[in-house]
Amino acid sequence: MLVYVPPHPLIKHWISVLRNDFTPPPMFKSAMAELGRFLIYEASRDWLLTVSGEVNTPCGTAQVEFIDPREPVKVVPILRAGLVLVEHAGSVLPANQTYHVGFVRDETTLQPSMYLNKLPERFAEGARVLVADPMLATGGTIVAAIEELTKRGVDHNLLRVVAAVAAPPALKKLSEKFPGLRVYVGMIDEELNEKGYIVPGLGDAGDRSFG
Ligand code: PRP
Repeated sequence: MLVYVPPHPLIKHWISVLRNDFTPPPMFKSAMAELGRFLIYEASRDWLLTVSGEVNTPCGTAQVEFIDPREPVKVVPILRAGLVLVEHAGSVLPANQTYHVGFVRDETTLQPSMYLNKLPERFAEGARVLVADPMLATGGTIVAAIEELTKRGVDHNLLRVVAAVAAPPALKKLSEKFPGLRVYVGMIDEELNEKGYIVPGLGDAGDRSFG
């Protein structure tokens, strides 16, 4: 499994805003959306399919390359917080389709349960899927989401995950289950506390975004 932490100052900047306990909800949301924009940009760098053609410019003709509209990236935000991370996905992925899934983690057992599933019964062969969840803590949620996708025909080698912060237990679980996965993450933190929160992390991204 590839885990990539893009060494970009803007990614560090937006992570710093998110980490700050004094950042109010509207600013937290916009920082998460900006972070998502850059993480998705990094994740899509060598991934998007293009078509070539020719256009007339005001001064002549040019050979050009567009993102192939017939090959939209399937964007899967994990509600709630993942919704904020993909807010600007459309500006980075000109061809995309969004399929929402909702998971909530039990505060005591830390087990995820799915309360919303808008995934298609079956994805077309070769579908490229981007899963977004700001926090990868125990890894229970992201693994459950990816298992739903693989049940529906997604090849995990064609799957990419974007996350704001990840903790070692989640990365370990993902690499054991999905060795061909690629994870693009703003920061890797050291540990989880007794409540299953990432430390130092950025708190509960869903609550900090939506109250
Ligand atoms: C948080 C977070 C992840 C999950 C991570 O969601 O956004 O989805 O927990 O934990 P895990 O790796 O241990 O499974 P939460 O259940 O708080 O839902 P929310 O996004 O609606 O706040």
